[in-house]
Amino acid sequence: MPVPSSMSYVGLTEHGGPHNLVVMEEHTPHPASGEILVRVAAAGINRPDVLQRKGDYPPPPDASPILGLEIAGEVVALGEGVTAYRVGDQVCALANGGGYAQYCAVPATQALPFPSGYDAVKAAALPETFFTVWANLFMMAGLKPGESVLVHGGSSGIGTTAIQLAAAFGARVFTTAGTAEKCEACLSLGASRAINYRSEDFCAVIAEETGKAGVDVILDMIGAAYFERNLKSLSRDGRLSIIAFLGGAFAEKINLAPILQKRLHLMGSAMRPRTASEKQAIRDELLEKVWPLLAEGRIAPVIHAVMPYTQAAAGHRMMEHGDHIGKIVLTFD
Ligand SMILES: NC(=O)c1ccc[n+]([C@@H]2O[C@H](COP(=O)([O-])OP(=O)(O)OC[C@H]3O[C@@H](n4cnc5c(N)ncnc54)[C@H](OP(=O)(O)O)[C@@H]3O)[C@@H](O)[C@H]2O)c1
Repeated sequence: MPVPSSMSYVGLTEHGGPHNLVVMEEHTPHPASGEILVRVAAAGINRPDVLQRKGDYPPPPDASPILGLEIAGEVVALGEGVTAYRVGDQVCALANGGGYAQYCAVPATQALPFPSGYDAVKAAALPETFFTVWANLFMMAGLKPGESVLVHGGSSGIGTTAIQLAAAFGARVFTTAGTAEKCEACLSLGASRAINYRSEDFCAVIAEETGKAGVDVILDMIGAAYFERNLKSLSRDGRLSIIAFLGGAFAEKINLAPILQKRLHLMGSAMRPRTASEKQAIRDELLEKVWPLLAEGRIAPVIHAVMPYTQAAAGHRMMEHGDHIGKIVLTFD
């Protein structure tokens, strides 16, 4: 099928609520040098898209202003110098933007083949959370087999990925979630203890479960509201990896003494501003170490809902309502 000169995409009339997401028409992008053009069959919705929609997370200057950080579909054109893929290949990819569209140009170095047996919906649910969790939990925080980890927001797209990856690589996993149903889901994914943070204090539970030793690693998306209790919940030489601030970015009157007493390591990162070579390095490790586990069915994305891209506003409302467990995916015809 020839590539049309124009395409439909989910545009933003202005920053604000989900009602500002409407279907618009634009020129189909051309793949730049090193890029592949993908006919998008499915695209994942991620919390950073909600922030971008509100105007709180502007895209980098060289990225498409269209929302959407992960896609899956068929390669329909190659930019100069691309040899790793051919037209007709089925790929999923971490996009720098532009995923909520019928066609999306992505760096070939951020694309991966569908894991064996995967369709586009399942493949589109992988890149953003797998790149983020692999980079933060394994490459930066250095989680090792036999260690313990606390994953906050266990029922989120990020959390469901982190629980499964940590358990698959031999860690003992604790997690927090906001309802009994979400806690049950986290246990079924491999968590050994799911803490309902509305009725339990995670700090007390971690102390009890670890004989007051604390956990080796915490993957945190809450920030300020959990900072002091995170420091308390870490073991000696523990590592805190912060990926978001759902509970605020400004912390006050926090006792920092545990950082010295326990030789803690504090770190954090955002995926989108990483360089192309950093993203490629993450992609290469995922392909080698994680894609076989997906193909074997030992881990799998948790998909909460699938809907046509024309209902992107409903997808955003669903995510902001917060009852979902796992991923919300848009499809394109
Ligand atoms: N740094 C990076 O590179 C990077 C990359 C991707 C995503 N992220 C961040 O990681 C987080 C998870 O992303 P996601 O796409 O997996 O999102 P998601 O599926 O929407 O999950 C967010 C979950 O966090 C929990 N939560 C706790 N406190 C919250 C609060 N104050 N407001 C809203 N939710 C709260 C909610 O579950 P409960 O019912 O259990 O509270 C909610 O379901 C987001 O903050 C996102 O921005 C960071």
